[in-house]
Amino acid sequence: MDIASDPADIPLADLTLLFNVLSYVDEPLGLLDSIAARCDGSAVAVREASSLRFGPMPAGRFDAIDVDLQQTVAQVPPFRLFDLDRTYAALAGSSFARREVEFELFERTAPFPPEVGAYLDGTLWWIADNISPANGAWLEDWRTRHQPVGGEPAYLVEVDVVAILRSTG
Ligand SMILES: C[S@@+](CC[C@H](N)C(=O)[O-])C[C@H]1O[C@@H](n2cnc3c(N)ncnc32)[C@H](O)[C@@H]1O
Repeated sequence: MDIASDPADIPLADLTLLFNVLSYVDEPLGLLDSIAARCDGSAVAVREASSLRFGPMPAGRFDAIDVDLQQTVAQVPPFRLFDLDRTYAALAGSSFARREVEFELFERTAPFPPEVGAYLDGTLWWIADNISPANGAWLEDWRTRHQPVGGEPAYLVEVDVVAILRSTG
């Protein structure tokens, strides 16, 4: 289904999870308000990555990758990369009776457990596919040198905006 055009078709549930999807929606406030209007005592849990950093890498390289991303996928509607301000405004402005909006730090250092290695692999493949060929090849080399466990130091730091929204008080 398309949650953006058919929010009324989102199944009724005690708890609806919106994890990394609001950044794909043109009008996140309208989507949230359509769920809030149910007033059925249900809750919505939101998680949206607002920043990501991994390394270490030579000075300037991460910035170059970031600039590439901003010039490619970050500007292709409806997706918006690390769309914190629009997401935060929608969460804080939604008509839910109760809103708890916070931030969480997700940080891991090598050696990564398997699930973090898999997450980092997937994230780096996605980034490599969406940046310049030169930076993409460099990143793929960095990934293979740091996965799955690797002897080299590596870190992953992500800040997520998280929220619990309740349709009744
Ligand atoms: C970054 S993924 C997040 C997937 C999952 N929630 C998670 O946290 O791993 C975003 C997902 O939202 C889906 N999506 C984007 N826009 C959508 C829309 N308008 N209606 C339904 N799904 C959508 C995409 O197909 C993709 O599967």
